[in-house]
Amino acid sequence: MQPNASYDDREYSRILDRHEHVRWQLNRDLPWDGFRPERVTDLDRRIVYTAAVSEFTTLAASHNFLREFADDPDFSAWVSIWFYEETKHHYALRRWLALCGIPIPDDEVMPRARPYPVGTSHAGTCTMNIISELRAANWYADMAHTTSEPLLAAIMQNLAADEARHAVAFAAFGKRYVAREAAAGVRAVLAMAYFWLADPTQVKHPADYFYPDVAIDFRIDGISQAQSALARADAKIFGYLSEMTGLSLASARDLKRSLRALLPQREALEAPA
Ligand SMILES: [Fe+2]
Ligand SMILES: [Fe+2]
Repeated sequence: MQPNASYDDREYSRILDRHEHVRWQLNRDLPWDGFRPERVTDLDRRIVYTAAVSEFTTLAASHNFLREFADDPDFSAWVSIWFYEETKHHYALRRWLALCGIPIPDDEVMPRARPYPVGTSHAGTCTMNIISELRAANWYADMAHTTSEPLLAAIMQNLAADEARHAVAFAAFGKRYVAREAAAGVRAVLAMAYFWLADPTQVKHPADYFYPDVAIDFRIDGISQAQSALARADAKIFGYLSEMTGLSLASARDLKRSLRALLPQREALEAPA
């Protein structure tokens, strides 16, 4: 187990302090009495349903985090913040859907509690989560502006801010693991990012990818107005990945080029003496 320098120096302490300053409360900060059903569109309902089901997968992800990061008490402590906030997201969206008269059946969400394989690189796992957080943050922020239903706008605004902060936290940990895992960590970041970002026409998300047997027949990348949010998200993602790795990354092509550049180094390392 990697010991931490001191309790006060933990990333968890910094994240908790930051999040406690801005944390929203479900019943205090959301205008539940201001729900306007006549302003809800069919697209609103479909997007929120998909988002609510996706948010439920944080249960399995948290189990996975605690298994994969059992060697890092600092990251494990951060999971307590993340899990709480993400579970609140699911509940807020579920409650909004209930106001619309739309229940989420157990057989829709319970299969998504099933654990999936844990990551093999902490840096790679952080990368996957930076991507999903920033895409969610930008998508929710857009949704907050495009919906005319005021309660949904308020929910989305708060969720977007949470997701953006989650990305910041995963990037801080990601930077630590790149430093620890060295060349293998950089390769893991690049390979993971290439897997999730290589095809700009298809938005992959862990919530769908790990549960193909129960995937919802609704794709955010099929909505034309989603494209600008996703493009903004991806620009930010490349900024975060550049910061983590010290490489200049602005496109999937850059990821591929950087991965290729690391190959000779890997072969040299793995060659028998
Ligand atoms: Fe969330
Ligand atoms: Fe999040």
